[in-house]
Amino acid sequence: MAAPADSRPLTKKAIQSLLQTTTFGRTLHVLQETASTNGDAMALAQQGAEDGTVVVAERQTAGKGRLGRRWLSPPGDNLYCSVILRRMPTAAELPRWLSMVPLMAAVAVARAVQSVTGLRPSLKWPNDILIGDRKLGGLLCESSVAGPARTFVVIGIGLNVNTERESFPEEIREIATSLAAEAGRPFDRAPLLAALLSELEAHADAILTRPPETFLSGYARLCSTLGRRVRVSLADGKTIEGQADSLAPDGSLRIIRDQVQGGGLLEVRAGDIIHLR
Ligand code: BTN
Repeated sequence: MAAPADSRPLTKKAIQSLLQTTTFGRTLHVLQETASTNGDAMALAQQGAEDGTVVVAERQTAGKGRLGRRWLSPPGDNLYCSVILRRMPTAAELPRWLSMVPLMAAVAVARAVQSVTGLRPSLKWPNDILIGDRKLGGLLCESSVAGPARTFVVIGIGLNVNTERESFPEEIREIATSLAAEAGRPFDRAPLLAALLSELEAHADAILTRPPETFLSGYARLCSTLGRRVRVSLADGKTIEGQADSLAPDGSLRIIRDQVQGGGLLEVRAGDIIHLR
């Protein structure tokens, strides 16, 4: 008898039998346990692994989050995966493309979640995946830029799939969620991963071939940060508050700073955003 959907292990056979991609996931490493799938994918890419190579693990012992944080990665319930991206624009377009990749990947994850579950995630700039105000998943993109043949990006995706609300550690229980907690039923992870890889492949092509404005307007439609009052912790340790106004052509977030903080428009390239009421 088949195992219930929520406890079905992730296997290479199950994932690859569902793939509808040309290259993404065709080279696939499925690990029971690893420190970090991003670490593995970076190492594989340094050794020349091809575009679309995927590393997925049942459990990470040192999962990495954005801004030096940890990504809790208990076994069995969730998706932890990393994808190597080597399809590149010209050198002149590389800087803007590099800043688009994390936004593109967030759109791909949101669309995959919606197509498989019917839930409608939004994006907290730059690439947190939310349902309502709770975090469903996140992305960590790491890159190595070293000449055309040796430049790559690793897109790391952590998605809470079947974790029950009570099982989240207390400190994040009120701000985290999972697909199962939202939908009231578990999800099989293999079809979800297959859909995610299809969306990622399509969007990775789209940001190479379509005008950036087209992509950014699609991102903006999913982004729940725009129009909100926000608090931003900047990389230099400063904090600002204001209204998230719009996206700059490179995907930076434009914030109209509160008058008490001196006002004016500020473009934020990297930072941690809190949505204020
Ligand atoms: C965030 O802080 O929101 C980003 C979380 C990214 C976690 C994923 S899990 C798979 C991949 N491997 C890692 O070590 N991190 C990313």
